Amino acid sequence: MLMSSKSAEKSPIYYLFNPRSIAVIGASRDPKKIGYQILKNIIEYGFKGKVYPVNPKADEILGLKCYKSILDIPDEVDVAVISIPAQYVLPVVEECGKKGVKALIVISSGFGEVGNVELERKLVETARKYGMRILGPNIFGLYYGPARLNATFGPKEVIPGNIAFVSQSGALGIALMGWTIAKGVALSAVVSMGNKADIDDADVLEYFETDPNTKVILIYMEGIRPGLGRRFVEVARRVSKKKPIIVIKAGRTERGAAAAASHTGALAGADAIYNAAFKQAGVLRAIGFEEAFDWAKALSMLPPPKGENAVIITNGGGAGVMATDAAVECGIRLMEMPPDLQERFRKYMPPFGSPKNPIDLTGQASEEAYKGALLEAFNEPRIHSIILLYCQTAITDPEVLADKIIEAWNEAKERKPMVVSFIGGIECDRAMAKLDKAGIPAYPSPERAVSALSAVYKWARWAGYVKE
Ligand code: ACO
Repeated sequence: MLMSSKSAEKSPIYYLFNPRSIAVIGASRDPKKIGYQILKNIIEYGFKGKVYPVNPKADEILGLKCYKSILDIPDEVDVAVISIPAQYVLPVVEECGKKGVKALIVISSGFGEVGNVELERKLVETARKYGMRILGPNIFGLYYGPARLNATFGPKEVIPGNIAFVSQSGALGIALMGWTIAKGVALSAVVSMGNKADIDDADVLEYFETDPNTKVILIYMEGIRPGLGRRFVEVARRVSKKKPIIVIKAGRTERGAAAAASHTGALAGADAIYNAAFKQAGVLRAIGFEEAFDWAKALSMLPPPKGENAVIITNGGGAGVMATDAAVECGIRLMEMPPDLQERFRKYMPPFGSPKNPIDLTGQASEEAYKGALLEAFNEPRIHSIILLYCQTAITDPEVLADKIIEAWNEAKERKPMVVSFIGGIECDRAMAKLDKAGIPAYPSPERAVSALSAVYKWARWAGYVKE
């Protein structure tokens, strides 16, 4: 089983992500039920530890021997997934405690979110009595790539990577799991938080702080439980100096906050307070999930910049102007090009090109011209970051251009942050997928590329890589 430097401590939350054995209580014989699908995902995603289905009515499910109770399992159990109706959960938690289980994943709905606050409180009290931690209740489960653990009833083929995604919303979280697969976004973890009766955002942040498999943490949040705000700010402030934290905080408006209250029972609170807290904690606040994942992609792939000088390289004047506006609006500083650099970039363009910033290679730019200009920018220490734009033309092949960009990226004396946008047809989509795969974040519009680079800058300034 996977061990990290954290393994020496072996906290319940460490075991939650790295169990040696897992029981599924409420593993059903019916493929239409959640307990069946969770067991199937655990098996089929290739969990390396031991798996024990628990169901008093079954002898065998999905080829595994089934136990009447967790107490009958002739082995230690680190994590129990509980997928039975809410009213039966408490005695099962008690049994898990007696068994020595370290962490529980409680899928069941029907607790605090529908007013059953007392039942939820008892759940936590019982778990605490035995030193267990609870994820949930009211969740879709947990995925952790390094342990090959997909204990969710979401999609199976999650792409392993280094972005940890934490979601308070179940349906949205599960939908975004599928969305990340379609978009090629690679994840280290997906954590469904639900009611956050016990484990809350600060707890998972602390796990990811030292998790070598996670580079960026992305949280969909509706609210923080009363009394836990200060701890969240303290922990996030410390963690965000090491790893970027992106938060989508829903319930921004009064109506939105009321909707959040009836969804997960979250006290959404005044939005201005959240904004102030996020600022203090160095958290990057995104409005929607597309923006949040755009930022996460760039932050997970790129090194931090060493300075503020950004250059735009383009073959289209219009795209260059759009990127310029976007850069100015989101606080990216575009370099004033010194004459000697203008001279050097002139080599890669016809006389009617522009070596200022944007560097306009013009519509007749070849793949080789792009590569030459790019290498010039990579190898020039006064340039700290690059926004590379391409408008599809008939004289270039987007996929060949992607290859040339990757060559330049690999031949450069030094890696520096670069975002790319290809604007055009289906060939551009294929080319951008190639770039993403090579670790160069690519986006279908200049604004999205610039926004992603601005997130890299905001975090680099906060973490002290670039002086403000
Ligand atoms: N120990 C072990 N197994 C048990 C126990 C027990 N004490 N009691 C019942 N079981 C078995 C049942 O026999 C059944 O197996 P079977 O189908 O082979 O007979 C299985 O466990 C499941 O029990 P059911 O009573 O059939 O419960 P069901 O699967 O219908 O519902 C569930 C359980 C899924 C937890 C439901 O109560 C629930 O809360 N659903 C909502 C879950 C959810 O949406 N979570 C949150 C967010 S995700 C999102 O929003 C997309």
